[in-house]
Amino acid sequence: MSAAPPVGPATGPGAPSLDKDPRRIAGMFDAIAHRYDRLNHLLSAGLDRRWRRVAVAALDLRAGARVLDVCTGTADLAMTACRYQPAPRAVLGVDFAGAMLALGQRKLQAAGLGRVVRLVRGDACRLPCASETIDAVTVGFGIRNVAETGRAVEEMFRVLKPGGRLAILEFGEPRVPMIRTIYLWYFRRVLPLIGRLLSKHTEAYAYLPASVSAFLTPDALAALLRASGFSEVRVDRLTYGVVYLYVGRKPAES
Ligand SMILES: C[S@@+](CC[C@H](N)C(=O)[O-])C[C@H]1O[C@@H](n2cnc3c(N)ncnc32)[C@H](O)[C@@H]1O
Repeated sequence: MSAAPPVGPATGPGAPSLDKDPRRIAGMFDAIAHRYDRLNHLLSAGLDRRWRRVAVAALDLRAGARVLDVCTGTADLAMTACRYQPAPRAVLGVDFAGAMLALGQRKLQAAGLGRVVRLVRGDACRLPCASETIDAVTVGFGIRNVAETGRAVEEMFRVLKPGGRLAILEFGEPRVPMIRTIYLWYFRRVLPLIGRLLSKHTEAYAYLPASVSAFLTPDALAALLRASGFSEVRVDRLTYGVVYLYVGRKPAES
C-alpha cells in the first residue's frame, strides 16, 4: 500500500502565485464570477450562508443603520445584511471586480433590493466614503485578498462612526488534529480540483487554500485590529475553525 499523500500547502514551481496585485486579483474574480456563487455553496456544502448570517448578527444593527460591505463581490453579504431585522436603511457594497459587481447588481434587482443596496467599484485601501459616516462594516472572505491588509483595516476604522462595529469573515484552518487532517486534504486537494473543473479557471481555486495558509493567523489579525484602534475585539471559530469571525468596535468618543 502506498503512503497517504501529504496535505501540506502547495509549494514549488507548480504552486499558485500569491501576488495580490489589484489588477491580477480583480481579473481572477472577474474570470470566475459566472460560477462564483454556485461554487461557494457547493464547496462549503451551503455553510457559507450560515457564516454570513452569523457575521451580520454580530453587528447588532439598529434600525436605520448604514452598512458598508467591503470586497462585496456578488453582494451575498450585503443582501444578508438587508434581511436582518431591523433592516438597515442603506447598504453600500464596494469591490474592484466589475463582473462580480454586475452579477451582484442583477441579484439585487431580482430580490427587490436595488433601492437599499448600492454597489460601487472601488478599492478597500481607498474606500469611497467620508470619515465617520458608517454604522457597521462587513468583509466576507475578502480581507485575505487585499494587497495591504493594514491599510484596508485603517480605512474601515476611518469610515466607521464612533461606536460602529466591524465584522470580518475569513477562512482558517481547523486545529483539532483529526478534523484538520481531513479538512486540509479536502481544502488543498479536492476543492482545487472541483473548482478548476467547474470554473474552468486553472488557478483561482488553488490560490484559495494557498492564500489562506499564507495569510495572517487569527491572533495576528486580531492584533492588527487592536493596533488599528478597534476595541472589544473578539475572534469566534465557526465550523471548527474552517472560518473565523472577527468582531471589533470603534471606541465611542469619550
Ligand atoms: C472571495 S470574494 C468574496 C465576495 C463576497 N464578500 C462573499 O462573501 O462571497 C473576494 C472579493 O474581494 C474583492 N477584492 C479583493 N481585494 C480587493 C480590494 N483591494 N478592493 C476591493 N475589492 C477587493 C475581489 O474582487 C472579490 O470580489
